[in-house]
Parts: sequence; structure tokens; C-alpha cells
Amino acid sequence: MPKITFIQHNGTEQTVNGLPGMSVMEVAVKNLVPGIDADCGGACACATCHVYIEPEWREKVGKRNPMEEDMLDFAFDVKEESRLSCQIKVNDTLDGLRVRVPEKQF
Ligand code: FES
Repeated sequence: MPKITFIQHNGTEQTVNGLPGMSVMEVAVKNLVPGIDADCGGACACATCHVYIEPEWREKVGKRNPMEEDMLDFAFDVKEESRLSCQIKVNDTLDGLRVRVPEKQF
């Protein structure tokens, strides 16, 4: 089971189990990770599932898709490493993934 660590703005870490096929956002919501609001339920229409991918994981996680790119315009404090967690599918190669949760979602 791929493990994913969510790091809060204050440095608090929470490591949870993900299931392949779920999105990183679904894993966060299922495990009550604070700061991932996911208002649209994963439809790439709200940008409240914004996370920052830690440097060592950026290549494996991959690039934003065009719809995600547009939606990130509405997110708070977007950086190069920003992704929408509903657009990242969990798989075994992401075991150990570390993402940071923004200070706020917008
Ligand atoms: Fe709405 Fe990801 S949950 S954009």
C-alpha cells in the first residue's frame, strides 16, 4: 500500500496509506488530513486540493495537465511545485510520496 506523507504549513506530518487508483486528494480526505478542502469532489473545478510536491518527488509525480493549469490560477500562493492533488493518481511508484499543504487554500 503506497504511503503518502502530508506536511502541514507548521511542519506537522501525517503519513497515511493510499490505495492505487485513488487520487492523492481522496487519500487526504479519507484520512481527514487538514487543509485539503476538495470542494468540487475531484472534478478539477475548485483548486481547494492544492498541494506542493517535495523536490525529490516532482519528476515521478509528473506535470500538470492543461485543465489543472487553468484551475491553479485560482489557488493561493502557487509555485512551480504546485499541483492539484485530485489530479494525481496513487500508484506503487508513489510509495513514500511527500507533499506539503499550503497555509490556506485561497
Ligand atoms: Fe476540486 Fe481538486 S478537488 S480541483
